[in-house]
Amino acid sequence: MKRDLVSLADWSAEEIWGILELAAHLKREQRAGARHDHLLRGKTLAMIFQKPSLRTRVSFEVGMWQLGGYALYLGPEDIKLGKRESVEDVALNLSRYVDGIMARVFGHEVVEELARFATVPVINGLSDLLHPCQALADMLTIWEKKRRLEGLILAFIGDGNNVANSLIEACAKLGLHFRIACPEGHEPNPRIVEEARAQGAQVAILRDPKEAAKNADILYTDVWTSMGQEAEAEIRRKKFQGYTVDMDLLSLAKPDCLVMHCLPAHYGEEITYEAARSKNSVIFDQAENRLHAQKAVLAILLR
Ligand code: CP
Ligand code: NVA
Repeated sequence: MKRDLVSLADWSAEEIWGILELAAHLKREQRAGARHDHLLRGKTLAMIFQKPSLRTRVSFEVGMWQLGGYALYLGPEDIKLGKRESVEDVALNLSRYVDGIMARVFGHEVVEELARFATVPVINGLSDLLHPCQALADMLTIWEKKRRLEGLILAFIGDGNNVANSLIEACAKLGLHFRIACPEGHEPNPRIVEEARAQGAQVAILRDPKEAAKNADILYTDVWTSMGQEAEAEIRRKKFQGYTVDMDLLSLAKPDCLVMHCLPAHYGEEITYEAARSKNSVIFDQAENRLHAQKAVLAILLR
């Protein structure tokens, strides 16, 4: 039976730990000079992008290459997913050529449909609802820096978006406490919050960034306007005034608090350049860990 990574909700805590442990192992060995190009030798990954990307594209492509496989970039203009051809037919065709599909899409139902019809594993490389690969890389980063995950307080400042939703799912599985400070109308997905709470997770929805930042182990933020919401950028810029991770906000958190951002960043909006370059910031470790975490996912799913 093939397995997909559409949402972390479909993976158990033990399986997620399995990914993190394999990722840490591959990273450690690679740093010591080892190669892993036997793991996916001769395997191919199709990468469908309906939206732009730096990290996702490069980390998946380089990751496949380092594992001995090949990755094929299919940009928005290449296959015109759902326009030139139905999502179902794209999934059925690609399944005859490649060993796995990674997709970055607008509607979450598109990646769900790809997974339903493809006979090879499908990995969600970001949808409007979720960004599971980001959350895996983030958990790896936090684990590396803090040597534990359970009981840590992750405070998310800003929009309850795809990144926030996947972090809630990851926190619920791995035992971190999640808090978000967001303006009214920008809460994370209510079903995801409810499911996390039903698993016994602590998820707090607050308005005041200072209240959220207090004693936090991690201060996390992301852009106020996500890809696809560009028409709302001006309204959002006004609505999110005050929801900036800066040195003042950081001073309310624990002294060893990690400053995190999935990137790309809009400096001066959701985060100041100073906070992003402070000694607390791990934003480029997060970016690097996309590679290691996804190599583990690929090795598990495509082997
Ligand atoms: N964090 C992230 O997914 O970056 P890209 O949009 O550049 O892939
Ligand atoms: N929330 C952002 C994340 C980008 C990696 C977006 O969807 O544009």
